[in-house]
Amino acid sequence: MVMMFAVLLVVILILELAAGIAAYALRGDLNELLKNTMLDTMHSYNDSNGKDITTAAWNDLQVNENCCGVTNYTDWWKPGPFEKPLLPSTCCESEQLVNGNCTEMNEFHRNGCFGVLSDSFEKNVGIVGGVGVGIAFVQVIGIVFACCLSRSIRKGYETV
Ligand SMILES: *[C@@H]1O[C@H](CO)[C@@H](O)[C@H](O)[C@H]1NC(C)=O
Ligand SMILES: *[C@@H]1O[C@H](CO)[C@@H](O)[C@H](O)[C@H]1NC(C)=O
Ligand SMILES: *[C@@H]1O[C@H](CO)[C@@H](O)[C@H](O)[C@H]1NC(C)=O
Repeated sequence: MVMMFAVLLVVILILELAAGIAAYALRGDLNELLKNTMLDTMHSYNDSNGKDITTAAWNDLQVNENCCGVTNYTDWWKPGPFEKPLLPSTCCESEQLVNGNCTEMNEFHRNGCFGVLSDSFEKNVGIVGGVGVGIAFVQVIGIVFACCLSRSIRKGYETV
Protein backbone atom coordinates (compact mmCIF):
# COMPACT_ATOMS: atom_id res chain seq x y z
CA MET A 1 0.00 0.00 0.00
CA VAL A 2 2.72 2.46 1.02
CA MET A 3 4.81 1.51 -2.03
CA MET A 4 1.74 1.99 -4.23
CA PHE A 5 1.34 5.44 -2.71
CA ALA A 6 5.00 6.25 -3.44
CA VAL A 7 4.64 5.03 -7.06
CA LEU A 8 1.53 7.18 -7.52
CA LEU A 9 3.41 10.20 -6.18
CA VAL A 10 6.24 9.54 -8.65
CA VAL A 11 3.76 9.29 -11.55
CA ILE A 12 2.07 12.56 -10.50
CA LEU A 13 5.46 14.23 -10.18
CA ILE A 14 6.44 13.13 -13.70
CA LEU A 15 3.15 14.43 -15.13
CA GLU A 16 3.67 17.76 -13.36
CA LEU A 17 7.20 18.03 -14.73
CA ALA A 18 5.92 17.29 -18.25
CA ALA A 19 3.18 19.95 -17.95
CA GLY A 20 5.67 22.46 -16.58
CA ILE A 21 8.17 21.86 -19.37
CA ALA A 22 5.42 22.04 -22.02
CA ALA A 23 4.10 25.34 -20.62
CA TYR A 24 7.63 26.75 -20.51
CA ALA A 25 8.41 25.62 -24.05
CA LEU A 26 5.11 26.98 -25.44
CA ARG A 27 5.52 30.38 -23.79
CA GLY A 28 6.68 32.00 -27.05
CA ASP A 29 3.77 30.46 -28.99
CA LEU A 30 1.29 31.70 -26.38
CA ASN A 31 2.71 35.22 -26.75
CA GLU A 32 2.36 34.96 -30.53
CA LEU A 33 -1.23 33.71 -30.15
CA LEU A 34 -2.02 36.60 -27.81
CA LYS A 35 -0.61 39.13 -30.27
CA ASN A 36 -2.47 37.67 -33.25
CA THR A 37 -5.73 37.52 -31.30
CA MET A 38 -5.34 41.17 -30.35
CA LEU A 39 -4.64 42.17 -33.97
CA ASP A 40 -7.67 40.16 -35.17
CA THR A 41 -10.10 41.66 -32.66
CA MET A 42 -9.09 45.19 -33.70
CA HIS A 43 -11.10 44.80 -36.89
CA SER A 44 -14.37 44.49 -35.00
CA TYR A 45 -13.66 47.49 -32.78
CA ASN A 46 -16.43 50.09 -33.07
CA ASP A 47 -15.69 53.32 -31.23
CA SER A 48 -19.33 54.42 -31.36
CA ASN A 49 -20.59 51.22 -29.74
CA GLY A 50 -19.08 50.89 -26.25
CA LYS A 51 -21.43 47.97 -25.46
CA ASP A 52 -19.92 45.74 -28.12
CA ILE A 53 -17.86 43.14 -26.24
CA THR A 54 -14.69 43.51 -28.32
CA THR A 55 -14.89 47.29 -28.11
CA ALA A 56 -15.52 47.16 -24.35
CA ALA A 57 -12.55 44.83 -23.82
CA TRP A 58 -10.22 47.08 -25.82
CA ASN A 59 -11.52 50.18 -24.03
CA ASP A 60 -10.99 48.62 -20.58
CA LEU A 61 -7.49 47.52 -21.54
CA GLN A 62 -6.46 50.88 -23.01
CA VAL A 63 -7.90 52.87 -20.10
CA ASN A 64 -6.69 50.64 -17.25
CA GLU A 65 -3.21 49.98 -18.64
CA ASN A 66 -2.69 53.38 -20.28
CA CYS A 67 -1.85 51.67 -23.54
CA CYS A 68 -2.87 51.98 -27.18
CA GLY A 69 -2.79 49.41 -29.98
CA VAL A 70 -0.89 46.10 -29.90
CA THR A 71 2.80 46.91 -30.43
CA ASN A 72 2.02 50.62 -30.61
CA TYR A 73 -0.76 52.98 -31.72
CA THR A 74 0.06 52.57 -35.43
CA ASP A 75 -1.64 49.14 -35.29
CA TRP A 76 -5.02 50.91 -35.40
CA TRP A 77 -4.23 52.13 -38.96
CA LYS A 78 -2.85 49.04 -40.73
CA PRO A 79 -5.44 47.96 -42.10
CA GLY A 80 -7.30 48.64 -38.89
CA PRO A 81 -10.66 50.34 -38.44
CA PHE A 82 -9.12 53.82 -38.13
CA GLU A 83 -7.63 56.25 -40.63
CA LYS A 84 -4.51 58.13 -39.71
CA PRO A 85 -4.45 60.39 -37.60
CA LEU A 86 -7.60 59.17 -35.81
CA LEU A 87 -7.28 56.78 -32.82
CA PRO A 88 -9.85 55.11 -30.54
CA SER A 89 -11.02 57.66 -27.98
CA THR A 90 -9.71 55.45 -25.14
CA CYS A 91 -6.16 55.96 -26.45
CA CYS A 92 -6.46 59.52 -25.06
CA GLU A 93 -7.36 60.73 -21.59
CA SER A 94 -10.89 62.12 -21.84
CA GLU A 95 -9.73 65.72 -21.21
CA GLN A 96 -7.40 65.40 -24.20
CA LEU A 97 -10.19 64.63 -26.69
CA VAL A 98 -10.81 67.26 -29.38
CA ASN A 99 -14.44 67.25 -30.58
CA GLY A 100 -14.69 63.83 -28.97
CA ASN A 101 -11.90 62.30 -31.04
CA CYS A 102 -8.41 61.27 -30.17
CA THR A 103 -5.78 61.83 -32.84
CA GLU A 104 -2.05 61.48 -33.29
CA MET A 105 -1.79 65.23 -32.53
CA ASN A 106 -3.23 64.81 -29.00
CA GLU A 107 -1.54 63.39 -25.92
CA PHE A 108 -2.26 59.68 -26.16
CA HIS A 109 -1.01 56.44 -24.55
CA ARG A 110 2.38 55.69 -26.07
CA ASN A 111 2.73 52.13 -24.77
CA GLY A 112 1.43 49.22 -26.81
CA CYS A 113 -1.01 46.96 -24.93
CA PHE A 114 0.73 43.73 -25.94
CA GLY A 115 3.87 44.61 -23.97
CA VAL A 116 1.79 45.31 -20.86
CA LEU A 117 -0.19 42.05 -21.15
CA SER A 118 2.85 39.99 -22.04
CA ASP A 119 4.77 41.33 -19.02
CA SER A 120 1.97 40.47 -16.58
CA PHE A 121 1.59 37.08 -18.28
CA GLU A 122 5.30 36.31 -17.81
CA LYS A 123 5.11 37.46 -14.20
CA ASN A 124 2.18 35.11 -13.55
CA VAL A 125 3.92 32.23 -15.33
CA GLY A 126 6.84 32.85 -12.97
CA ILE A 127 4.57 32.72 -9.90
CA VAL A 128 2.81 29.56 -11.12
CA GLY A 129 6.21 27.99 -11.88
CA GLY A 130 7.52 28.85 -8.41
CA VAL A 131 4.46 27.40 -6.68
CA GLY A 132 4.81 24.29 -8.86
CA VAL A 133 8.43 23.79 -7.80
CA GLY A 134 7.37 24.15 -4.15
CA ILE A 135 4.65 21.51 -4.55
CA ALA A 136 7.04 19.18 -6.38
CA PHE A 137 9.51 19.53 -3.49
CA VAL A 138 6.85 18.51 -0.96
CA GLN A 139 5.99 15.52 -3.17
CA VAL A 140 9.62 14.40 -3.34
CA ILE A 141 9.71 14.48 0.47
CA GLY A 142 6.49 12.44 0.47
CA ILE A 143 8.02 9.86 -1.87
CA VAL A 144 11.18 9.56 0.26
CA PHE A 145 9.12 9.15 3.46
CA ALA A 146 6.86 6.55 1.83
CA CYS A 147 9.90 4.55 0.71
CA CYS A 148 11.50 4.78 4.18
CA LEU A 149 8.24 3.76 5.81
CA SER A 150 7.82 0.80 3.46
CA ARG A 151 11.39 -0.34 4.12
CA SER A 152 11.01 -0.14 7.89
CA ILE A 153 7.68 -2.00 7.74
CA ARG A 154 9.34 -4.76 5.71
CA LYS A 155 12.31 -4.90 8.14
CA GLY A 156 9.84 -5.05 11.03
CA TYR A 157 8.20 -8.15 9.49
CA GLU A 158 11.57 -9.83 8.90
CA THR A 159 12.73 -9.39 12.51
CA VAL A 160 9.40 -10.52 14.04
C1 LIG B 1 -20.91 50.95 -34.78
O1 LIG B 1 -21.88 51.10 -33.78
C2 LIG B 1 -22.90 52.04 -34.12
C3 LIG B 1 -23.83 52.22 -32.91
O2 LIG B 1 -24.22 50.99 -32.38
C4 LIG B 1 -23.66 51.54 -35.37
O3 LIG B 1 -24.64 52.47 -35.72
C5 LIG B 1 -22.65 51.37 -36.51
O4 LIG B 1 -23.29 50.80 -37.63
C6 LIG B 1 -21.50 50.45 -36.08
N1 LIG B 1 -20.50 50.44 -37.13
C7 LIG B 1 -20.01 49.30 -37.63
C8 LIG B 1 -18.96 49.45 -38.68
O5 LIG B 1 -20.38 48.20 -37.26
C1 LIG C 1 5.28 50.84 -34.18
O1 LIG C 1 5.55 49.47 -34.30
C2 LIG C 1 6.00 49.06 -35.58
C3 LIG C 1 6.18 47.57 -35.54
O2 LIG C 1 4.97 46.93 -35.29
C4 LIG C 1 7.32 49.77 -35.88
O3 LIG C 1 7.75 49.41 -37.19
C5 LIG C 1 7.12 51.28 -35.80
O4 LIG C 1 8.36 51.93 -35.97
C6 LIG C 1 6.52 51.68 -34.46
N1 LIG C 1 6.23 53.10 -34.49
C7 LIG C 1 6.43 53.88 -33.43
C8 LIG C 1 6.08 55.32 -33.63
O5 LIG C 1 6.86 53.47 -32.38
C1 LIG D 1 -13.30 64.74 -35.16
O1 LIG D 1 -14.69 64.72 -34.92
C2 LIG D 1 -15.43 65.62 -35.71
C3 LIG D 1 -16.86 65.60 -35.23
O2 LIG D 1 -17.25 64.30 -34.86
C4 LIG D 1 -15.25 65.24 -37.17
O3 LIG D 1 -16.01 66.11 -38.00
C5 LIG D 1 -13.78 65.33 -37.53
O4 LIG D 1 -13.59 64.91 -38.88
C6 LIG D 1 -12.96 64.49 -36.61
N1 LIG D 1 -11.54 64.72 -36.82
C7 LIG D 1 -10.76 63.91 -37.50
C8 LIG D 1 -9.32 64.28 -37.57
O5 LIG D 1 -11.16 62.88 -38.01
